[in-house]
Amino acid sequence: MQDDNINWLERINQSADFIKTKVSHLPTTAIVLGTGLGELVEHIKMDVDIPYRDIPNFPVSTVEGHKGRLIFGYLGNKYIMAMQGRFHYYEGYSMKEVTFPVRVMHALGVKTLFVSNASGGMNPNFKIGDLMIITDHINLFPEHPLRGHNYSELGPRFPAMDEPYSHRLIAKAKEIARAHDIRVVEGTYVGVQGPTFETPAEYRFFHVIGGDAVGMSTVPEVIVARHMDMEVFGISVITDLGGGAEVDKVSHEDVQKAAAAAEPRMSLIMKELINQFQEL
Ligand code: HPA
Repeated sequence: MQDDNINWLERINQSADFIKTKVSHLPTTAIVLGTGLGELVEHIKMDVDIPYRDIPNFPVSTVEGHKGRLIFGYLGNKYIMAMQGRFHYYEGYSMKEVTFPVRVMHALGVKTLFVSNASGGMNPNFKIGDLMIITDHINLFPEHPLRGHNYSELGPRFPAMDEPYSHRLIAKAKEIARAHDIRVVEGTYVGVQGPTFETPAEYRFFHVIGGDAVGMSTVPEVIVARHMDMEVFGISVITDLGGGAEVDKVSHEDVQKAAAAAEPRMSLIMKELINQFQEL
């Protein structure tokens, strides 16, 4: 059976054991620095950084010049770990590889996961550059990250998904946004494999089924985090719009540009939230 001859638990623990020899503390909070949070790195007082290529069993990047690394350090008063560079399914990684870093985070003792991404908005009230607090998701990836052998040490065979994104963290993030006069919207994120952006009919379809924004990441990592009962908060920057009368012609450059403009707002909300929340 696919992947089932691999002992994932052993691999996860090997990676975690290696990381433990490098860091001065073990964090209980982790951030996936997706699009929109690049700038947050500058706010981290770095303890150590570990390139992915040095970590046993970590997925290997085939893209030249790829500078993926784990960062450990203080964000304000909180010792955190951050993933700079994530693995996307469209790049060719298996779902087990895409979600492997989240397994390792959990093995290190992480209890709360913060994620960011860029997405295309279908909700007619959304504007380019809006920050959407993710309240729910629809998983349209062609493969499920929990398919195959279930390690009961990690979580149940049939995990509940009634609260994928923590209600109390959503409420806190909205409070912070309000206090700083930052416009935020809320919505359901549709996760698709990409790498094509959507056709006009696909944008309409994703809106009809209940989506507010669509993107190519996050859902696998969140499912795996929830499988292990980690608390999750996610935020998305709306970098383009589809689903209205007109569909923008989207390019990767447009996405990068809109995301860069939203970075300071997104970083502020994340930094404040991470500093203010109390672990369950
Ligand atoms: N679709 C899918 N992924 C995306 C989009 C989009 O419109 N924008 C940014 N990431």
